[in-house]
Order: sequence, then C-alpha cells, then structure tokens
Amino acid sequence: MLGEVRLRDLTWRPIGRRAPVLAGLDLTVAPGERVLLVGPSGAGKSTILHAVAGALGTTIAGDLSGTAEVDGRLGLLLQNPADAVVAERIGRDVAFGPENAAMPPDEIWTRVDACLEAVGLTYGRDHFTAALSGGEQQRLALAGVLAMHPDVLLLDEPTSMLDASTASSVREAVLSARDDRTMVVVEHRIEPWLPHVDRVVVLGPGGVVVSDGTVGSFLAGPRPAGVWMPDMPAPLPVDVPTDLVRPAVEALTVTATDVSVELVMRTLRGTQRSRALTGLTASLVPGATTGFTGPSGAGKSTALAVLGGLLKPAGGSVSPELRRRRSAALASLVGWVPQNPEHGFLTSTVLAEVGHTARRVGREVDAPAVLDLFGLGRFAASNPYRLSGGEQRRLALAAALAHRPGIVLLDEPTVGQDPGTWAAVAGWVGSSRDAGATVGLSTHDADLALDIEHRMREGAIA
Ligand SMILES: Nc1ncnc2c1ncn2[C@@H]1O[C@H](COP(=O)(O)OP(=O)(O)OP(=O)(O)O)[C@@H](O)[C@H]1O
Ligand SMILES: [Mg+2]
Repeated sequence: MLGEVRLRDLTWRPIGRRAPVLAGLDLTVAPGERVLLVGPSGAGKSTILHAVAGALGTTIAGDLSGTAEVDGRLGLLLQNPADAVVAERIGRDVAFGPENAAMPPDEIWTRVDACLEAVGLTYGRDHFTAALSGGEQQRLALAGVLAMHPDVLLLDEPTSMLDASTASSVREAVLSARDDRTMVVVEHRIEPWLPHVDRVVVLGPGGVVVSDGTVGSFLAGPRPAGVWMPDMPAPLPVDVPTDLVRPAVEALTVTATDVSVELVMRTLRGTQRSRALTGLTASLVPGATTGFTGPSGAGKSTALAVLGGLLKPAGGSVSPELRRRRSAALASLVGWVPQNPEHGFLTSTVLAEVGHTARRVGREVDAPAVLDLFGLGRFAASNPYRLSGGEQRRLALAAALAHRPGIVLLDEPTVGQDPGTWAAVAGWVGSSRDAGATVGLSTHDADLALDIEHRMREGAIA
C-alpha cells in the first residue's frame, strides 16, 4: 500500500567492519504511521534510514542481505544538512528536486515559496545558501524534501541544530503539511515529538530493536539506556583527568570590542552583502565558559569565529588578533570545532586524527585515553568519515582538544549526543574550564553549564 515501508531480515556489514551494524532486522511501517526511532549514538538509526532510502550497498559500500521496500515517493533529510545544499540561492536549492522530477515551472515555484515559508526561511528566493547559519541550512534541506511531497518522509535529527522555538516551528511544518503521510523521525531530544507520533522504536547498541510500541507503552516501560527520556535531568558531566585537559600554552583573554562582520558574496550577477554581526562587545576569559545562545541565525557561530580569528571584522577590533598568527602558532593556541566538524577530517584513521594537531605542534598526547573518554576507543582503526553523526562530532572535539590548547572554541559541541556521550562532551568542556582554559561556545543546549551567557538576536547581543 502507498506509504508502506518494509524491512525484512536486513543484515548490513559496511566495508571495514567485522560485526554487522544491522543483523536480521525486521521492521514494517504502516501507511500514514508516524514513528520515532531512538537509541544511543552509533546504534544504527541513520543506517536504517539509509537502508529504507536504498543507499546501502549502492552509495555506501558493504555487504547487504534481506530486503528493504518502500511503496511510494520517498524523501530523506540527511543528518548533516550541509551535505544537501546544491545551489547558490535558496529558491533554486529547493527547486532542485521538483525540477529534476520535471514538474511544470508554475508548480515548482509555488511549492518553493510555500516550503520556504513553512520552514521559516523568509529571506526570499534569491538569498545565498552560503549566507545561511547551520540551523538555517537544516531548514533549507527540509524545505527541499517537503517540496517533493513525498509519501514517506524520513528525517534524521531534523531539529538537532535548532533552538527550542525554531524547532517547534519546524516540527509544525513537518506535521501540518499532510497528516496521512508516513514518517520516520530520528531524534535524540525526543520529548517534543512524543505527542505527534504513533509509535516509538528503540534501538540498542548493535542495531537491535529493544522495544517497539505505542508512546504509552514506551513511557510505561523500562528506561532504555542511551535515550533522553522526558523530564530526565542531564547526567553528571564526566570528570576528565586534569592531565588530559590542562592547557599546554597560556590561556589568553580574547576581547571583541564593537565588532561588526559582513558576509560578502560575489558572483557573476553581482555582490550580496549581509550583516552577520553588529556591535559585538564580549570577552572570553581563562577559567570560564562563555556561551553564545539565541535563535537559529542569531549570529552565534559568527561571534565565535570572529573571536577565534577565523573571520575579519568589518568594524571594531578583536584583541589579541589571532587572525594574524601563523597557522601552526594558532593551532597550538586555539582548539576549534566548527558547526559541521565532519568536513574537516585530515587523516585516514580515528587514532591518527586525534594525534594530528599534537604532532604538528610537537606535543605529546595520550590519544587512546582521549578516544576512550569520548567513547571512541573501538574505532581507533576506523576511517573518520565512516563514523555515525554523533561519533564524528565527538571525534572532531577529541581531535581539536587533545593537544591541550589554551583557548577552546566549540560550535554546538553537544549536538547529536545521547545522555552518556553528552556527559563525556560536557565533562571535557567543564574540566578544561576548571583546568584554566579559556572556553567559548555557541549552543542552544540548555543543559550545558555556562559561566557567562550572551543571548544573541539578529546579529547582536540581545
Ligand atoms: N559506511 C560505514 N562504514 C563503516 N561503519 C559505519 C558506516 N556507517 C555507519 N557505520 C557504523 O555503524 C554504526 C551505526 O551508525 P549510524 O550512523 O547508523 O548510527 P546512529 O544511530 O545514527 O548514531 P548517531 O546518533 O551518532 O547519529 C556506528 O558505529 C558507525 O560507526
Ligand atoms: Mg545518525
């Protein structure tokens, strides 16, 4: 029947892994059913969505047996939204799918405008995709998926990079479009989805279905490991041994004074300027965690990037001017994790990745100990790009921080983590601070403890 999804005896072993990620999985989703798929980081959630989308054994290499069938048109929102951007302007980006499906132009542009509006991107069709924040990219990707009017909607952590209020409008967009549509949504922070789904499937480590039933039976059942249950207090951050986090170089104070940042995009058809930051005055100080919070697109990442010397201010000043340091000196001083960290892996194994910066700046690191703390020990020999979304983010943190920089700048460090891996990430942040590092981060994670909080809105501190 239209909208039905059937996985039968599905076994999947990616190349380079001894154990299968999915072993004999059976799962049927009825037409119109809304399923929440949950489980710890690395359990196999994204792999299941890839299986339904037919990517296993084709775009992703490995051994596949069993069957995966879908009746009807399928839309998949990938875990990493930046992977989905195809065009220079947001209108064209959303139009890409409908154009490929050879829809009439009127129909295409009606859908484009409706879907951009539904996800709350109100800049207009001609806005540059390169000028979008991480959360806006996530919403753009969703608009592109919705524009195809799929019968089966697969969403991999669609609100992971959004603040609570933007997330709720995105949920609205997903749910209001059509209520007879089949939907499978993966998310770590599950509470806001529970009122909107019919069924919760809990996956355990190794891709095993631990429980499968109604929301009521899920809530009444035993608490599964590695799942953020509603009302669950944040776990205690892990106490990371000081030797692993104590800055190896001086932890400096970094101050921005009345800084503005303009993003200038030049193309054949002209130049577009957008103001990303206005009048930012803020300091990052040793021994404190300074957080930039605020809605999607408020300028949090830009604030962090300008303080860290990655962006040149259009006005105002930043001191010290980290931007002027040579790259090796900067790497020794600053540990930086961007919002899409998975774009920056440099080596071919997880172990080599963690030791990479340390080797460059001539510093000793206990890479296996760092990996163990981040729950990545068993992946030492794996390729960084083969890790799950949450694993990749933890690897990026491990790789940026293992050499014990004095200044630690983290863009959304806890995205995509289950309670256990969250405690490791939050622990590393807190322990670095306690050991005297200057910590700056951008986040919408209300559970992450901040010493100083700058709430931002529209490119300025609110
Ligand atoms: N192409 C691949 N090659 C090798 N291993 C892979 C590949 N894709 C995924 N894996 C491994 O399979 C396991 C499941 O990955 P998957 O991405 O499905 O996890 P997930 O549940 O979505 O996790 P997260 O919550 O962190 O996104 C992980 O341990 C991951 O390292
Ligand atoms: Mg995933």
